Amino acid sequence: MSLSGRVRQSVVGRSIWRSGDVATDRDRATKHWSSFLLHLYPVKVRREELAFRYSWFLGVISLVLFASLFVSGMYLMFFYVPSPATAYGDIEYLQTEVAFGQFIRNVHRWSAHLMVLAVAAHMTRVFYRGAYKPPKEFNWVIGVFLLVLTLLMSFTGYLLPWDQLAYWAITVGSSMAAFAPWIGDQAQQALIAGDQVGSATLIRFYVLHVAVLPGLMVFLVMFHLWRWRKDSMLSQPEESEHG
Ligand code: HEM
Repeated sequence: MSLSGRVRQSVVGRSIWRSGDVATDRDRATKHWSSFLLHLYPVKVRREELAFRYSWFLGVISLVLFASLFVSGMYLMFFYVPSPATAYGDIEYLQTEVAFGQFIRNVHRWSAHLMVLAVAAHMTRVFYRGAYKPPKEFNWVIGVFLLVLTLLMSFTGYLLPWDQLAYWAITVGSSMAAFAPWIGDQAQQALIAGDQVGSATLIRFYVLHVAVLPGLMVFLVMFHLWRWRKDSMLSQPEESEHG
């Protein structure tokens, strides 16, 4: 028996890998469910759904970018205070003094731009493949919420550097909300917490950007992936062949 085989069959190895020999489909399913990484995937899935040419891995790419934003964002939070008196200086300090500050900020910024592109491309792929059709239609709806949340993350993050570009971009963006019929003024007020962009807007955008929206996104992404697992098991070959 090979060395790795012997390690797996030892008392310690069995306590970690747990499943024994794999002979039948049932053994394979047991092994699958008991593995942390493999349990993310359905036990049974049509081979073509796992191929690169089916999904172009665009959902997975969106997920990786989201993870990158999460990690880099946490680093940035150590050095940023959301107040008009400090925000601009904090970013300047981060760029010039903090170890890896400029690099991490760029990772965060680029991941954000790329995530918007990746999510839009993922949605387009799902549409052209007809992958929104039953039984996956509910996952499409969750996806629409994820798209809106992704765009709101970009919008709220844009104000945080508190420079001229940020200030005027949010002033213009939130003024557009005022043109919505009937609820325009209320929508604008709710967005910027007052009549013009100021310290109340900054704290509102910050809390949305670092807590409310990412929290909602983590929950919805988990739900999205769980539905994806279940639905790819349910989908029939003829549905997607014509889809
Ligand atoms: C935060 C944004 C999103 C993430 C992280 C994400 C992630 C994923 C992943 C990892 C998959 C499975 C593999 C793949 O198809 O690449 C998937 C499948 C799917 N996603 Fe998304 N997604 C996001 C946004 C969206 C949006 C905006 C839509 C559409 C409105 C959408 C609709 C779907 C559907 C219908 C499936 C099943 C596709 C199939 O089984 O062929 N997702 N998503």
